Amino acid sequence: MKPISKRMEPIPASGIRKFFDLILSTPDVISLGVGEPDFVTPPHISDAGIKAIEEGYTSYTSNWGLIELRELISEALKHEYGVDYDPHGEILVTSGVSEALDILMRVLLDPGDEVIVIEPTYVSYKPCIRFAYGEPVVVPTESSNEFKPTVEDIEVKITDKTKALVLGYPNNPTGAIMAKKELEAIANLVNEYDLYVISDEIYSKLTYNGKHTCFSSLNGMQERTILLNGFSKSHAMTGWRIGYACGNREIIEAMMKVHQYTMLCAPVQSQLAACEALRNGEESCKKMVDEYNRRRRLMVAGLEEAGLECFNPRGAFYTFPSIKKSGLSSTVFAQRLFDEKKVAVVPGNIFGECGEGFVRCAYAVSPEDIVEAMNRIKEFMEELGV
Ligand SMILES: Cc1ncc(COP(=O)(O)O)c(C=O)c1O
Repeated sequence: MKPISKRMEPIPASGIRKFFDLILSTPDVISLGVGEPDFVTPPHISDAGIKAIEEGYTSYTSNWGLIELRELISEALKHEYGVDYDPHGEILVTSGVSEALDILMRVLLDPGDEVIVIEPTYVSYKPCIRFAYGEPVVVPTESSNEFKPTVEDIEVKITDKTKALVLGYPNNPTGAIMAKKELEAIANLVNEYDLYVISDEIYSKLTYNGKHTCFSSLNGMQERTILLNGFSKSHAMTGWRIGYACGNREIIEAMMKVHQYTMLCAPVQSQLAACEALRNGEESCKKMVDEYNRRRRLMVAGLEEAGLECFNPRGAFYTFPSIKKSGLSSTVFAQRLFDEKKVAVVPGNIFGECGEGFVRCAYAVSPEDIVEAMNRIKEFMEELGV
């Protein structure tokens, strides 16, 4: 048999999925592993999807997505962040941010183009860049700087092949957020070097201290930014597969072409459910965010009690504690914690080399499970003798 594409060789299977499969096949595990809300979609949103099916909405929509949804997205972005995207040509509805990321890399990159990725990073950015024949260039960050890159960190990685910078704040896996001032400094750099910014703002609603800054709202950034967002996290809709990309006409139209030939459109029921989320979902979203905030405090306190240093996360639903004190590598720590205490966490090195010495714990689980998991981690640390 002829070999499959060489492009696949450097791309590992997602380490998170590996854990997920392990968890599914082991009883009584408390999983802090997988980053998805434990809430079900709020009933009024699900009902809108069910009603859509019952009323016969079972066909394709416009490749761009329903105009009703694009208008609602446009209004929401204007209302929340003061950015103005034309629903006719500057907004594309996709099957989650995942699809948007993939097709965006394909339209943006030529072979060898470099894209800067801040590590620890969400696991999909680098593979999507490689699938599009681009080269990810890594900027590591440190817990001592709250896992935030400085302008200098980024600038030293810029070459004449650099085309774009990926920003994902609030951040998966660290929970870091960026202050407006810090983003403005990056915006100046982006202008100076003529770069695009891929701003994955899927956790924008999940901030606990201070308001989220939309990167395209910064001076001069709307033309350069491709804003990605969706409903998976904010409205507990991971299984509905619905998201969107906003940007300048040239890019969004090119993305629409790829989307048109590969996906055709996002599921119509999900689009109608997303309309309901935008019309009436503010309160249910806020309730979930308040609950995540409570769980965040519970987990950070529990980790400290267990003797693990943890940078205080300000967004998304993850903590990223240091496990260096244990003397174990991230992988061994996660494996042993799973084997010995039936608690699943994700080894930090999955998110990049500088994630070694850390693990990711999602607090999108019940408070009871958080308390029990923290007790087990404490026991584990005591048994290690640290
Ligand atoms: C940072 C980030 N971006 C994108 C996604 C994927 O989102 P979607 O469900 O919209 O495809 C995730 C999912 O975990 C994520 O954490």
